[in-house]
Amino acid sequence: MEEYINKIINTDSISGISILPDNYVHLILSDIPYGIGVEDWDVLHDNTNSAYMGTSPAQIKAGAVFKKRGKPINGWSEADREIPKQYYEWCLTWAKEWLRVIKPGGSVIIFAGRRFSHRCITALEDSGFSFKDMFAWNRQAAPHRAQRVSAVYERRGDLENLEKWEGWRLGNLRPTFEPVLWFTKPYKIGTTIADNILLHGVGFEISQDYVAVAQHRLDSLVMPLFQGLNK
Ligand SMILES: C[S@@+](CC[C@H](N)C(=O)[O-])C[C@H]1O[C@@H](n2cnc3c(N)ncnc32)[C@H](O)[C@@H]1O
Repeated sequence: MEEYINKIINTDSISGISILPDNYVHLILSDIPYGIGVEDWDVLHDNTNSAYMGTSPAQIKAGAVFKKRGKPINGWSEADREIPKQYYEWCLTWAKEWLRVIKPGGSVIIFAGRRFSHRCITALEDSGFSFKDMFAWNRQAAPHRAQRVSAVYERRGDLENLEKWEGWRLGNLRPTFEPVLWFTKPYKIGTTIADNILLHGVGFEISQDYVAVAQHRLDSLVMPLFQGLNK
């Protein structure tokens, strides 16, 4: 295992995690795909409608804006409405493995999308984790996506409704927070957290030497934490 410490492994993490022994890691922290079709790796369902990633003929004509916007949340077909459930099922494909490699009492921190975070929570609960709490990452900005509804009637040549709905926009919030989910692997029934610290060393760190090592690793990060694709 030593060869993997402090290394970034270029592989699919869902299958790649199998190299880790049982009850091995103290923490898993992940910014998992949100299942909202923001990139190819974010399409986690078997819905093959070309409109999903903004690649239908109409969307290509509309230009880059549609590529990122994807499909409307309600979807255009019955298959679209299965997407949240299929996201839950995708979470189930890796959650049990995470449970296996985490030490009892260890934590999982997941940066989750707002729309499907509830599906992620239930999938991890159904796989054996305890959902402990949630906190929020507050971003500086968020995209604004309120479509002018009259533009649609204009394209259709429906002049009456173009005039009637002039100035109206399709509602969309512009939230700047992202939910961060905190789960723990339950420890043995009949023991306390203090017993668990003795058994698995998961809890607090009192040794100044170990704290100094961890701090040094954090200080030497090239890129500041929380400054990635989503900045
Ligand atoms: C939500 S993004 C994380 C973005 C990053 N936190 C940032 O702000 O720059 C998810 C990342 O997971 C990667 N990814 C998706 N599926 C993966 C998998 N099965 N195994 C490993 N990485 C994966 C994607 O390439 C993407 O970089």
